[in-house]
Parts: sequence; structure tokens; C-alpha cells
Amino acid sequence: MCGIVGYVGVRQAAPILLDGLSRLEYRGYDSAGIAVRDEQSAHIEVVKAKGRLTNLMQMTDSGRAVSGTCGIGHTRWATHGEPSALNAHPHYSKEKRVVIVHNGIIENYQELRESLVRKGYTFSTQTDTEAAALLLDSYYAESSAPSPRERALEAIRRMMIRVRGSYALGILFGDQPGVLYAARKDSPLIIGRCEGENEGHVLASDVPAVLGYTRRVVYIDNLEIACLTREELHIYNIDGEELEKPFVEIRWDAAAAEKDGFEHFMMKEIHEQPRAVRDTLSPRIREEEGGRVIDLSDSGMTDEALSGVRRVLLIGCGSAYHVGMAARTVIEQLARVPADAELASEFRYRSPILEEGTLAIVISQSGETADSLAALRLCRERGVPTLAVVNVVGSSIAREADAVLYTWAGPEISVATTKAYSTQLAALYLVAVKLAALRGSIDDAREQALIAELLALPEKIERALADKERLQWFANKMAACRDVFFIGRGLDYAISMEGSLKLKEISYIHSEAYAAGELKHGAISLIEDGVLVVGVATQPELFAKTVSNLTEARSRGAYLMGLTPYGQYAIEDTVNFTVYVPRTEALFATSLAVVPLQLLAYYISCARGLDVDKPRNLAKSVTVE
Ligand code: F6R
Repeated sequence: MCGIVGYVGVRQAAPILLDGLSRLEYRGYDSAGIAVRDEQSAHIEVVKAKGRLTNLMQMTDSGRAVSGTCGIGHTRWATHGEPSALNAHPHYSKEKRVVIVHNGIIENYQELRESLVRKGYTFSTQTDTEAAALLLDSYYAESSAPSPRERALEAIRRMMIRVRGSYALGILFGDQPGVLYAARKDSPLIIGRCEGENEGHVLASDVPAVLGYTRRVVYIDNLEIACLTREELHIYNIDGEELEKPFVEIRWDAAAAEKDGFEHFMMKEIHEQPRAVRDTLSPRIREEEGGRVIDLSDSGMTDEALSGVRRVLLIGCGSAYHVGMAARTVIEQLARVPADAELASEFRYRSPILEEGTLAIVISQSGETADSLAALRLCRERGVPTLAVVNVVGSSIAREADAVLYTWAGPEISVATTKAYSTQLAALYLVAVKLAALRGSIDDAREQALIAELLALPEKIERALADKERLQWFANKMAACRDVFFIGRGLDYAISMEGSLKLKEISYIHSEAYAAGELKHGAISLIEDGVLVVGVATQPELFAKTVSNLTEARSRGAYLMGLTPYGQYAIEDTVNFTVYVPRTEALFATSLAVVPLQLLAYYISCARGLDVDKPRNLAKSVTVE
């Protein structure tokens, strides 16, 4: 979703802002803008453009036409008001006394708007952000604090108390050259210190934007305010007390966020899965005298706490929810603990029953998804222990959960998740096997066999990737189809959900996942000539049943693709095209079967000439509810 970049230092700000914004393009946006202040003339130049960042680059000669060493920039994903240059950020008050960029939503903006109009303010955009800019302006004007900085801090604090909703803000005050302010509530914000030729400070809503300039960052927490100049950084809480906050070193570098010779980030990330899954699993598997054991102590979750778990809730959105659906089955089968997958966006609204002994596992790549964060907070309020399975280190969900099991996927840039999905799954297999071992629901031999199978997964994912040319051929053939069904039972239904989501989000082809046995209860009426049905059949005991459902679809004119492990060759009698994946423990088959489905979606999107990494209307990190 929206991205923020700010810079104050010795270099010209505009090229740095544009470069930083380009690193955040993957998050999804529909317009962009920058505000840069020229120290000589005290003038703040604001330039905004609808559409891709290249438009803004053209308008500013890649930033060269806008002079000044202090500025803020933004990529906007429209929520309030259509995508347009007018509604793009920065937003500002009269004579640019206050200029802001904002991520998040000001929920009470209507009420603020009305009260500001009564005070004589006029609005020129449809955005919620403009209300925050003008409110800040009014508080700044009203303040009688002795210095401009104290006036600014007081105004920001008052504004934070008055607005409801979520925000990460970058702020310039017209009468304060060389000073940049920032504030946050429920929307991520980091500040990096730059040394050498870039000396100064950078502000951003996400790590990739600063990696070209520094790896030393401070995470701004909720209800904190930062004041940045070329040399200084001060951070305050909402009571105005100055805080000492540590700089942390970002482990991954800018190269990890590059395409590495692949045409798209998505393809690069699909190929990173063996490495990412290995990095997530291996450090948590230890050799001991009696065999291998799973050690989750890095998460902060003790064996004692895990032993007491009587019910597991797996909460997430989109693909993270699909991981929860698969993990639910694995946990129930192995540990014999009741487990449920919950859509974070629905969870709060049905007043969930959270009994003692429940462990809530919140799954999120970004660690910033608003609904997942809200579900986590609800669980915490109700005294339920929480474990986050998160990729982005230091993200809100990671910081607020009682324990965090990081997935070591590295930065995921493509909007459609692939390697984060696979590593979330791997992390939850570890939880399932560990729980089972602690509860004694599996014996030592089974535990050892499962761990060995986990360690073999990266190499098997590698082998699943090897079949990509056939999939590309099939995808080219199918690129014009209009409807696709993905069907399967049990774990295969969970895989189908993910396969269907991958396809629809990046190819814009209508697709649905259906529990195979449910097809004949309604949706089979949609099957006709030209509909593609993908049957997922990785579970030996369900194989024959899913194949029967495929036969039913074929009789109604469907074109069939089967997805099954090597050895299940009987499927060829029914389907038109088969994809085989290496054999593994049936409970872990999701990790292999998902790979061809990712590739299918990728190749169909390419064949249709679409923007694979940045599909329309979607954002990488969904920070609004
Ligand atoms: C689909 C996709 C989304 C995310 C969902 C949750 O490819 O990426 O469905 O899985 O928006 O995001 P995180 O994992 O960041 O909470």
C-alpha cells in the first residue's frame, strides 16, 4: 500500500526520494508526489502525478528539476478520493505552512473536516489526509510554545490525540528549513542514519527504500514522534518525553531486493523457495544423541507453554489464511489438538470464544496487515497467548506478539506471495511436529521420519521447479481461458485455494477453489466447454474420490489438469494434462504441489502480457481494514 520516503542531509533530496519510492513500488500505488524545500528561497516545491512513478520522474527530470536537501515523498493507493494528481500526496495547508505525506486512514476525517470548515479552512481534495494536514496547521498556528520546534511538537501531539485511525506521517513546516518530522500509529515507519556522501537521515515506511543509503535504522513505535535534521535525530513519546532508541542493523542488503537476472521478482522469489524453506527449517532442527529434535526457543515460546496448548487458532488474510488452512490439518493429524483457521478480517466480528489453553498463531508476511494486527490485539486483550509467524523483522505483529517465529524468506517484493507462503508453511510444520512430540501423539520413530522429510523438502521443491517448461507450454495454451476451477479435498482443498488466488490476482482470469466433493452441490452448473478444472490429488486416501469428481467435470465439457505425486499415473486416464511433483510425507505435500500452481499463474500472466509483480488494484501490505 502507500509508501513514504523522506530525506534531510547534504545531498539533493528529490533523486533520493524518487529512488526510495521506486523501491516501494512493489507495494502497489496509483499516484505519487514529492515535496522538496529549497533552503535559499524557503520555498517548498510540490510535484504530483497520477499513475506510475515514471510520470513523476519525467515531470521532475528524475528529480534534477527540484532543488533542495530536505523533502518528503509518497506513493498513494487510493482509499478516500479517486486516484488523481490532486488527491496524491503531499497535502498541504495555505502557503504550505504544513506539508504532509500520510499512510493509513484518518477515520474521523469527516468530523474534522466539518470543524475545520467552521474555523474558516477550505478543502481542495477528497482525501482524509488533507484533514490531518489542516488540523496540524490549526494547532501549529494556535501554539504559543517558545520555539518553532516546540510549537511543531505540541501541534503534532495534539493532532495525534484528536485523530482516530492509523497513520505514518512525514511532515514539513514551512518556517523550519532543514527539519523533518514524523509520527506513527499502527502504520510502519523507520528512520535510517546515513553517513559519508549521503550524510543525513532518511525516513521510510519500509526497509527497501533506505537500503541504498544505510542499513542502520530505528523503528518508530506507536504514538511516537521523530524530529530529524542533517545531524540530529530526536524521538519523543506522546507526552513529549525524549526517548533513547537503539539503532538496529538490517541483515539483508539492497541486492536481495534486486531481480538477479530474472524477468520478474515473482519468478526470482519462486526460485528462492528451496533456500528460504531451508533457512526457515534448518536452524531449528538440532542433532542430539537420541536423534534430531525441533528447537523453537528462538521464537520465545517455551516447550512448557507449548505442552499446555489445548486448541490452536491460525489467523491470517489471503495466502496467509491458506497457510493456516493447511497447517490446521497438519496440526490436528499429528498433535491431535483441535485447530481452526480463521480469516483475520472476520475474526473480531463474531465475538470469538477463546477458552483457556488456546494458542493464537497469527501468520503474516509483512507483519503489518491491519486485520491480522487487530486479531492479534484482540487475542492479547483476552489473555490468549500469541505466536506470530512473520517475515518482516521488527514489524508490528512481530513486536506485539508474545512470541515470534520468523520465516527467513528475505524481502518479498512481488505482490503475489510465493516464498513467504512456503516458509510460513514450513514454520508451521515445525510447530506441528514439535507439538506432537511434546504431547506424545507420535512416537520417536515417526518424529524422526517427519524431521527427515522436512529436511528433504528444499531439495524436493527444487525438483518441482524443474518441470517449468512443460508448465509454460500449458500456460500459453490456457492463457485465453475465461474460467478456472481448482478442486481438491482436505489438504488439497487448501492448496486449491492458494492456486486459485495466485491465478486470479495476477492473470485477472476468474477462478474459484472448490472442495471437490462440493462441486456437485451447485457450482457444477458452471462447468461447460472451455472451462479449465485443475484437480489437486496429493492425498493417497482421497485420490480416487478427487479423480471421480474430475470425471464428473469432464463429462460436462471441462478441460482437465491433474496435479499429483509421481507414481499416481492412473490420473492420466482421466485428465488432459498432468503435472507430477516429488513424493513426500502426505501431510507436507502442500509445499510441493503449490510450486506448479505458482508457475502456472506466473506463466499465464506473462502470456497475457500483464504486470506480474504489480497486479492492478492490489497492494503488497494491506495496512487498512
Ligand atoms: C496473495 C497475497 C495476499 C497476502 C495477504 C496477507 O498473493 O500476497 O493474499 O497473503 O494480503 O498479507 P500478509 O502476509 O503480509 O499479512
